[in-house]
Amino acid sequence: MSILVTGAAGFIGSNLVQHLLKKWPDRRIVSFDALTYSGNLLNLEPVRDHPNHTFVKGDICDREGVRAVLVDHEISGVIHLAAESHVDRSIVDPMAFVRTNVDGTVTLLQEASEAWGDRDDVRFHHVSTDEVFGSLGDTGAFDETTPYSPNSPYSASKAASDHFVRAWHETYGLPVVLTNCTNNYGPYQFPEKLIPVVLTRAMAKRTVPVYGQGSNVRDWLFVEDHCDALATVFDRGQNGETYGIGGEAEVSNLELVHAILDEFDLATGNRVGASRALVAFVDDRPGHDLRYAMDISKIRAELGWHPTVTLKQGIARTVRWYLDNGAWLDAVSGGEYRQFEELWYSDRDGAAT
Ligand code: NAD
Ligand code: DAU
Repeated sequence: MSILVTGAAGFIGSNLVQHLLKKWPDRRIVSFDALTYSGNLLNLEPVRDHPNHTFVKGDICDREGVRAVLVDHEISGVIHLAAESHVDRSIVDPMAFVRTNVDGTVTLLQEASEAWGDRDDVRFHHVSTDEVFGSLGDTGAFDETTPYSPNSPYSASKAASDHFVRAWHETYGLPVVLTNCTNNYGPYQFPEKLIPVVLTRAMAKRTVPVYGQGSNVRDWLFVEDHCDALATVFDRGQNGETYGIGGEAEVSNLELVHAILDEFDLATGNRVGASRALVAFVDDRPGHDLRYAMDISKIRAELGWHPTVTLKQGIARTVRWYLDNGAWLDAVSGGEYRQFEELWYSDRDGAAT
């Protein structure tokens, strides 16, 4: 069996490819990625010479390229992660999100349907986010029946892609599964997302920007646990079904930032608590969702999956990884990312507390 992983050179994709090659020694993995600013072949370095792994550079919006990879590699399963993934960027440049997340997903669906015809031994797994459900108040959690209510251009584009995947199942009979997961963290996360922003700025002794009052709440899942959930749903999920995935680890942004800075101090021999002084409260993100949480009863009961890494363990492993991988950080943080960082943080640097 050959499985195409789109977005394989990104954060979750590269962790997933490494995970699947260990878990499925009898399957071939074809990594497909356009290598945008957030995708980097360095992320796939550990599996570069793996005999069951091939990398193909390509854009999911390019019909011919998608068709060629599906046919040439006799693909019978797709795990689709390629996306524009950063909410702040979607505020600055929404059309890039429509192009990749909507047009790109529909291109993949069309070409997979075309290549597979009526086969029922195939599967299209669409990897999505809890953000499609909008924002929660102080209590409650999303589940698979929650109505869609996206608030950012990013989440609106992911919501649209989810609807197209469902439509391809209902209308054309494409065998699909969908997953909607909460915030991931861990090795190889591009340094524009909260946890690597905190770490890279703490390492450089720069202020750590916390939007608003830091009272927004997210649920955090260590990326390896997400990869295990994806493998589980790909193999054993029911056709046409959606599965919510989460870490059951809710925490406010400020609490999380403090926990990371404390772990950073511990790992670098600073007085624990000293780096908290780097926190700077800056202008809030427009349309900032207050709280996300996921009820994972369905995947737990039907497929036996549950998170295994606690937030404390995951933070310690993540801090260690970033401290040990300075060369990776330097390599991925150049050029285009620097320009975005300057644009986004120029009026947000704020003064440390
Ligand atoms: P990422 O930005 O780190 O990686 C995205 C990858 O997609 C990059 O390697 C990029 O080069 C590639 N890509 C972008 N446009 C492409 C195109 N047109 N054609 C081919 N490749 C393209 O993102 P991530 O955090 O790893 O997220 C991966 C997926 O998981 C996304 O679909 C995202 O919506 C979803 N997701 C992420 C999280 C999270 O917390 N990071 C949580 C739930 C769901
Ligand atoms: O919930 C799943 C989603 O999680 C994924 O679908 C997205 O791809 C992923 O980027 C993530 O979205 P968030 O917007 O929650 O993640 P981000 O790391 O950008 O921000 C986390 C929280 O921290 C959010 O409330 C905004 C805040 N934040 C973020 C940054 C980058 C800050 O306070 N300061 C920052 O510098």
